[in-house]
Amino acid sequence: MQIEFSDTAPGDIRLHAIVTNRDCLPEGLDAAVSDGADAARYSGRAGQTFEGFVKHHGKLVRYALAGAGETEAKGRSINLEKAGAALAAKYLTSGEEAMVLDLGQAGLNAAQAASVLLGLRLRSWRHDAYRTKLKEEQKKTLASVTVINAPNGADAAWADADAVAQGVDFTRELVAEPANKVFPVSFVHRCEQAFAGTGAELVVLDDDQMEELGMGALLGVGLGSEQPSRILAIKWMGGNPGDAPTAFVGKGVTFDTGGISLKPGPGMGDMKWDMGGAGAVVGTMLALVKRKAKANVVGVVGLVENMPDGKAQRPGDIVTSMSGQTIEVLNTDAEGRLVLCDVLTWVQREFKPARIVDLATLTGAMIITLGNEHGGMFANDDDLADELLASGKRTGDKLWRLPLSPAYDKLINSPIADMQNIGPKFAGSITAAQFLKRFVDDGTPWAHLDIAGMVWADKPGHSWDKGATGYGVRLLDDFIRTSVQG
Ligand code: BES
Ligand code: MN
Ligand code: ZN
Repeated sequence: MQIEFSDTAPGDIRLHAIVTNRDCLPEGLDAAVSDGADAARYSGRAGQTFEGFVKHHGKLVRYALAGAGETEAKGRSINLEKAGAALAAKYLTSGEEAMVLDLGQAGLNAAQAASVLLGLRLRSWRHDAYRTKLKEEQKKTLASVTVINAPNGADAAWADADAVAQGVDFTRELVAEPANKVFPVSFVHRCEQAFAGTGAELVVLDDDQMEELGMGALLGVGLGSEQPSRILAIKWMGGNPGDAPTAFVGKGVTFDTGGISLKPGPGMGDMKWDMGGAGAVVGTMLALVKRKAKANVVGVVGLVENMPDGKAQRPGDIVTSMSGQTIEVLNTDAEGRLVLCDVLTWVQREFKPARIVDLATLTGAMIITLGNEHGGMFANDDDLADELLASGKRTGDKLWRLPLSPAYDKLINSPIADMQNIGPKFAGSITAAQFLKRFVDDGTPWAHLDIAGMVWADKPGHSWDKGATGYGVRLLDDFIRTSVQG
């Protein structure tokens, strides 16, 4: 989607749109629009749209209204995104190739205008790479938006938001791609291409290097796969030299069959998006790098494919993690924590981060708990947790905090090793988080986000279609803006 700012509306565009607030149509609208909107019970509620046809200089023009709700609403910026997103959803395959969007209405400031455009841009993402037989009417047509009457500074605000949108799109692409296209090596390759020339530094560890470092937990997961494993670190030092970086850590299981503890067949295809945490981390890094965030941040992802074969690890095997702690692998399908624990150890030794946030599609139990509305958060630090909760509210990438405690921790003690990789039947998301906590040094603020219910959607949401949502990028980008003013 090409978004341009202009002083005047190009004469040849047939689709005009404006944003309106609740119960407040602007003066001077053609009666076909104002009376039509009234008749259609258009009230300007967030995300509502109306279309009227008017004669303009002798030509028929489609005139669209998009509702942004109450001016004083708490979630005003999300409502503005909804207005933009509703226009994208309505006109993406409408046959129209261009839209004039008049942002001089609704009393918007620069940041609010950018919110409308962000919603529009995010909602227009599609992944049609493998559809060779789309019917004409199913094809995306809307390719450009000309913004007129934008408030002062809207172009700069948009340049910033556009960088975030690029990050979200990158995450969505990685998540949507199947596991024969995105596997550890190709994931790294796509990142190398995306970050080329940006000033970010990429560090890649291969199997031999990980072996050398003693990452027995991560490597154990990849044993049954023909695909070699990788760790990828993306370093962006845009902040004060010497400031300890914030570390983002992502689970990148590019496909999760369950291994020898094989998952049942129905729904297994979903496990192509078991790298959604890693996808969110690299998408965030791309957003930060593109908008040249004034912050030191390192994004590190553990990339492994979990397959069953003659070399695969068995239930009951004991592996030694890089930290030296031993783990009895009672279920090879609880693999995400095995990947993350070695990445967490490496990140702390290598980068001495000021704080760590990890993201992972870690447990099915998280979906049972929170459905698709909130990611689950576990944290050893209240300030960090509160900052993340606030970022979630601001961006719509919502979180809900869940408990950690010694009583849960002891549920993963093993009779033969330091710990086992599963707990008893209940509190599965919490015991998974307790497992990770055993690999975080005392005094390092850390939050674990279990986003199993958030990376993929079965129905469209406020700024995404069904499919890959890009969850986490907006959240972490906002967290960097607010927590370290980056
Ligand atoms: N990747 C899955 C969790 C998952 C399930 C994410 C469904 C998204 C949708 C994870 O590796 C897993 O298999 N977890 C097990 C843990 C269990 C064996 C303790 C689970 O949730 O069943
Ligand atoms: Mn699994
Ligand atoms: Zn998994």
